[in-house]
Amino acid sequence: MIAYSDGVFSLSGKGFSYLFRLTGSGQPEHLHFGPVVSARDAQALACKPGTGWGESILYDQDSKLCLNFPPLEWSGSGRGDYRESPIWLERNGEAIPTDFRYVSHEIVDGPIPSSLPQARYGGESLKLTLEDPRGLRLHLIYTVFDDAITRRTVLENNTKDAITLRKLMSFCLDLPGKLEMTSFGGGWAAEMRSATASVSWNRIVSESTTGFSSARAQAGFLLCEEGAGEDSGVVYGINLIYTGNHYASAQRSLQGLNRVMQGISPDSFGWPLAPGEGFETPEAVLCWSDQGKNGMSQRMHRFVNRHIIPKAWQYRERPVLYNSWEGCVFDFNQARLLSLGKQAKDLGCELFVLDDGWFGARNSDTAGLGDYTVNRKKLPEGLDGLGRALNKMGLQFGLWFEPEAVNPDSDLYRLHPDWALTDELPQLYGRNELLLDLTRQEVRDYIVENVSRVLDSAPISYVKWDMNRSSIALGARAHRYILGLYEVLDRIFTPRPEILLESCSSGGNRFDLGMLCFSPQVWASDNTDPIARLEIQQNLSCLYPQSTIGAHVSAAPHGQTLRNTPLYTRGNVAFFGCLGYELDLKELAAVERQEIRGQVEFYKKYRRIFQFGSFRRISTEEGICWQVGDVHTRLAGLYHLLQPTAPGYERLRVPGLKPGKTYTLESRRQLLRMRQFGGMVNHVLPVKLNPEGAVIRQADRRYAMKDGREHFTATGAALGQGVMLSARFTGTGYDPDLRLHTDFGSNVYVIEEEASHEKSE
Ligand code: DGJ
Repeated sequence: MIAYSDGVFSLSGKGFSYLFRLTGSGQPEHLHFGPVVSARDAQALACKPGTGWGESILYDQDSKLCLNFPPLEWSGSGRGDYRESPIWLERNGEAIPTDFRYVSHEIVDGPIPSSLPQARYGGESLKLTLEDPRGLRLHLIYTVFDDAITRRTVLENNTKDAITLRKLMSFCLDLPGKLEMTSFGGGWAAEMRSATASVSWNRIVSESTTGFSSARAQAGFLLCEEGAGEDSGVVYGINLIYTGNHYASAQRSLQGLNRVMQGISPDSFGWPLAPGEGFETPEAVLCWSDQGKNGMSQRMHRFVNRHIIPKAWQYRERPVLYNSWEGCVFDFNQARLLSLGKQAKDLGCELFVLDDGWFGARNSDTAGLGDYTVNRKKLPEGLDGLGRALNKMGLQFGLWFEPEAVNPDSDLYRLHPDWALTDELPQLYGRNELLLDLTRQEVRDYIVENVSRVLDSAPISYVKWDMNRSSIALGARAHRYILGLYEVLDRIFTPRPEILLESCSSGGNRFDLGMLCFSPQVWASDNTDPIARLEIQQNLSCLYPQSTIGAHVSAAPHGQTLRNTPLYTRGNVAFFGCLGYELDLKELAAVERQEIRGQVEFYKKYRRIFQFGSFRRISTEEGICWQVGDVHTRLAGLYHLLQPTAPGYERLRVPGLKPGKTYTLESRRQLLRMRQFGGMVNHVLPVKLNPEGAVIRQADRRYAMKDGREHFTATGAALGQGVMLSARFTGTGYDPDLRLHTDFGSNVYVIEEEASHEKSE
């Protein structure tokens, strides 16, 4: 709800308020972003002006207003505020000052339409219009939803001069408190590493300049009040609905305010604005909680699920998929795919995704990108024939595309070499490819026509939209590229809402809210090693719900880390996302098939909760714990890294249950490989066998050992403080009740409310 009275704007969501007022000279002054307060509190909440101005410049002599100090919702440049400015304009190559003051406002139902992807479905919006004496107009646009506020800006050049826009942030805000900024970065196969630093005099910047949102610098970040943890303290989550170069910064002033802003990266940016022209920024999302990082991320998850994900896929269960890439790479034909399809179906998969290599001369990553002719040598019956055969088996059919790129060795490039995105310097290649110039209409038309034609030619219900190289386009051209991309995605997928789109960019280079406005899920990383995924998925969970995270079980030893992680842990980690399998199924041993069948069955039973349940990161003494839940059921994944010698007692804490209710706790039935016990099997066998010999090897492929199982009841109160799990293997013999975990062991526990044991609380 948005209200305005006596110069105070009050925006309220569920359990939070956002307040600002106008100064005597018309600048919007920030008052509050936090628990619900009243507009009547404005005076009490406002920072009180001081007297000692030193060398500072007074904006207004009479009221002693100095723009360098108060918390502002926006600031110009050259008018006495020397904190970072969210705007930078040039005229004839010279920076010009800006001085925006209130002229009018408008409050409307729902979001105000933008030319960029934006949060939608509900909310209420405020358009605050400010003007500079020379006729520049700035609209600060706010939309308030139940769980978050979005902000963006629109600049209109109503002067008679041409100007160049060098920087225009989506929002600027001065927050109180001692804050720490946690940002996420990394690179290929190493997405979502985190870094935390106190916000201080030195500006902290998280910025991407690769042309896309990038794994190097995730657009979303957290600001936590000192001492805040997973379950307590004030945490702000901030993100940008944008797929291009982005910038976020935080810096503390002497007065103890933290100036925070986010928007398109100003790096090399220069957008010409002729008289009468305007520019619109992407939308930023601001989320507050005093319930720690979990409280914030639960709000953010609800916001993304309700206001970012396309309507047709909101809270709609995602299929368990099999993807051909890691198992086949480019080496497949119809017979091999159908054999894999048969096995995938037998394991319980619902969707078969044919990844790279189905078109043109695409037998390696050196050729074929840009062409859309099906390779009939590999697929004699075409995509339609393959899709129908898979459908007949009871599988949906999904297809990979990389529409934005072209290999120089392709028919498209031979025909239109000028369609590649180039600059005046010699071409540079990434993965043997160039990007197509999506700023050009004919290029966009080519992609839309060809992808649409393929989609309509076969029973395709899922698309993986890949993109595998950094851009060379700088500044404004990089932004135009992203506008072109959004147009293409809109033209292809808006008329085909039933197609499930998964975005991918060499893994997680485009895990951003802009792509999520089109694609309900994103391939989180090419790194499918479950131990690496613990970090990637845990950090993603701070900003994105599980339903958006593509998570697959792949082979061991793992292709990037050579780590040999038990199959059950590979499953236990992938459950907390959109589950898939990506390995050569032909190589699976009978016991592995049995384990996978069990995993898929278990996942399907609890899929709604895994994908859409309320997610928590639980602090543990040892290892990592994730929990998801709905009203009656909680699922807890508990993961260990290196197995200690003589491991100590271990409790599982399940907070937030109803204290007086009784719950059953049960661990998932998971299978252990016999060979993990090496020569120790001889302690329990009647005959002595060579642990490396053929008999044990054969037996290992056929017979599994069962991990010790937990099964007990406890009250919500006991579970909340932590219940004791059974002991782990300590080397003094085999006991079927022990948890027989090696390094990287794990399990998932189901905690269900018992209907028959209800007690009043
Ligand atoms: C990069 C993606 O991240 C992979 O999953 C796979 O689709 C390959 N491209 C195919 O070339």
